[in-house]
Amino acid sequence: MYACICHAVSETDVELAVAGGADSIEAIGEATCAGTGCGSCHVVLEGLLDRVCGPVFVLETG
Ligand code: FES
Repeated sequence: MYACICHAVSETDVELAVAGGADSIEAIGEATCAGTGCGSCHVVLEGLLDRVCGPVFVLETG
């Protein structure tokens, strides 16, 4: 399934980019071109970022 129709970028391509270090919509765009057209897929890209990266928890000690 496409994450970005404008550039025919699949969800898998985006997940691989995120796993490879793309940690923002801009970084995903640089790696795959996804999100660099009309911008309507940004919500999908944010969902994929959350799914691959998950929530970040900060453990405070002391
Ligand atoms: S659908 Fe991704 S930029 Fe248009």
